[in-house]
Amino acid sequence: MYALARSLLFALEAERAHGLTLAGLRAGHRLGLLGPAGAAAPAQPVELMGLTFANRIGLAAGFDKNATCVDAMGALGFGFLEVGTLTPRSQEGNPRPRVFRLPRARAVINRMGFPNEGVEAAAARLRRRRYAGVCGVNIGKNAATPLEQATADYVAALQAVYECADYVTVNISSPNTQGLRQLQQGEQLRPLLQALLAARADLAARVGWTVPLVVKLSPDLAADELAATAQVIRELSLDGVIATNTTLDRSGVRGLPDADRPGGLSGAPLRERAVAVVHALRTHLGPDMPLIGVGGISSAADAATMFAAGADLIQVYTGLIYRGPALVRELVAADYASRRQATPQGPPQARHNRP
Ligand SMILES: Cc1cc2nc3c(=O)[nH]c(=O)nc-3n(C[C@H](O)[C@H](O)[C@H](O)COP(=O)(O)O)c2cc1C
Repeated sequence: MYALARSLLFALEAERAHGLTLAGLRAGHRLGLLGPAGAAAPAQPVELMGLTFANRIGLAAGFDKNATCVDAMGALGFGFLEVGTLTPRSQEGNPRPRVFRLPRARAVINRMGFPNEGVEAAAARLRRRRYAGVCGVNIGKNAATPLEQATADYVAALQAVYECADYVTVNISSPNTQGLRQLQQGEQLRPLLQALLAARADLAARVGWTVPLVVKLSPDLAADELAATAQVIRELSLDGVIATNTTLDRSGVRGLPDADRPGGLSGAPLRERAVAVVHALRTHLGPDMPLIGVGGISSAADAATMFAAGADLIQVYTGLIYRGPALVRELVAADYASRRQATPQGPPQARHNRP
């Protein structure tokens, strides 16, 4: 079924195909074609960061930037979703075309630059969602905001989404917003995270619950930079880490059409590096820091490798473009089978930090 849809979608410009996919998913969900949430497989819930995840398979940020498709994506069987990246004010992003498929490598290059409708529009949609599973919100800074004022953007975004997010991801690893990745370096990262933790403490006191804060890292940090970044994350007792975002490295796609387009590469050629970063982070962060692995996962075997490297949960994006919803079913079923042997449990009880 998806093979037919895919050949139609792949005939279109990538971003237009994505817009049609989102519209199709919304329509399919309205018509009841996607089934009720969680029906794809029985679940083995996982407790992490004070949240209950129905399974360990999540949707990565960027697929549903504006939270227009949360109920439909939830119905595909994901254990959690992440919307965004959202910035305080709406913005256009970079000029189109800005997304390119590299089918021979099962990869994508994008330089979207956070096009989004802004935090308020997405927050309003999130408040109306029916999806009962975990939904994280990924936040960033507006392109027009100078790097020195980035903290104010992240704090404003955190405040806007706090009451409708199950966790918040601080995105400092997109290669498509100028200078953003500098924020990963220790001397810039520490004050940014401290400001966000202080803002979170104020919000928690006001609303009565604490939303976990996680940070999303690049696969392109050198070994010593990664160690230094992990040290800051540990010292500040952040709630978790997502690794990785897209890469600037082109060694896995050299010579292919569109391989030299500027932007971040995702999909199969990223997998080995993303797994290595997760493995290194697990060593640096110790056994207890929640770690979400993402990058190039497009089969149950890939997922198993990411879990073996130390990930507690995983996310997918590019694999969905190439394999469609069958990938979610495969990953959720394999997750269930692998953990059923380990810990038999009853049905999941959705639990949130928020009431
Ligand atoms: C078209 C596209 C847009 C993306 N947009 C975002 C984004 O807005 N924020 C973010 O944190 N990651 C974004 N990502 C990165 C993904 O969330 C993920 O980290 C990366 O693609 C690696 O996973 P994958 O190989 O499964 O796609 C985007 C990826 C793609 C392909």
